[in-house]
Amino acid sequence: MQTANQANRRYFREAYRTGKHGWAVEEPNPHIVDFLKRLRRLAPGGHLLDIGCGEGRHSIAAAQLGFKVTAIDFEPLALARARRFARIKGARGIVFREASVFRLPFADGRFDIALDCGCLHHQKKSDWAAYKAGILRVLKPEGFYVLSVFSPKFRMFRGRRRSWHIAYGAYRRYFTRKEMVELFGRDFEIVALAEERGGESGFWNALLRRCKRASGVAAMCS
Ligand SMILES: C[S@@+](CC[C@H](N)C(=O)[O-])C[C@H]1O[C@@H](n2cnc3c(N)ncnc32)[C@H](O)[C@@H]1O
Repeated sequence: MQTANQANRRYFREAYRTGKHGWAVEEPNPHIVDFLKRLRRLAPGGHLLDIGCGEGRHSIAAAQLGFKVTAIDFEPLALARARRFARIKGARGIVFREASVFRLPFADGRFDIALDCGCLHHQKKSDWAAYKAGILRVLKPEGFYVLSVFSPKFRMFRGRRRSWHIAYGAYRRYFTRKEMVELFGRDFEIVALAEERGGESGFWNALLRRCKRASGVAAMCS
């Protein structure tokens, strides 16, 4: 039987092969750009890891704001597009690498900022702990984490009872506020957490800061 991860790979391979998918190619999410502008003051020139970078729109925006950027994605077609877009936009120095979010090929504490726009909500709940452990491992103490995930207000979800579904072959999870707080509240200070309202979108946009003593289960921010 095909696992959720294999199904996701097939979905993303096809999305990047055809270039037809539902998210923006060039324009970065404005909420993420706002967070990056705040981080320019809090962690100027910091090393940012873009997780599931896709075609690189946020890697490029971050590089243009002066961050040092490393970006990973498990889909080589996405990375090829990202490298091309970065060249076209004149965004230099971004390191794009093929890797899974579950096997981050980096030393412990390497990054000042982790950014995920649209990758976590494609991971099954049973994989969230492994996903978060990887981020905690590569993020510096008090490092920042910028996250954008589907909320139940997302148009594909409205009216459903379950908190997940499979659409076009890919797993999609619609996070409640409670799930966000349960998943991240022990290891991160929630600096900002806002649900987009109106229009067609429905995302949580979050700016989190790793707790000083964060080291797994016992970590508490206060
Ligand atoms: C919805 S797209 C968003 C792309 C990009 N972050 C953006 O905002 O344009 C999600 C991305 O996550 C990548 N992805 C999904 N699961 C992954 C995994 N386990 N490891 C690495 N990348 C993954 C996909 O290939 C895809 O490029």
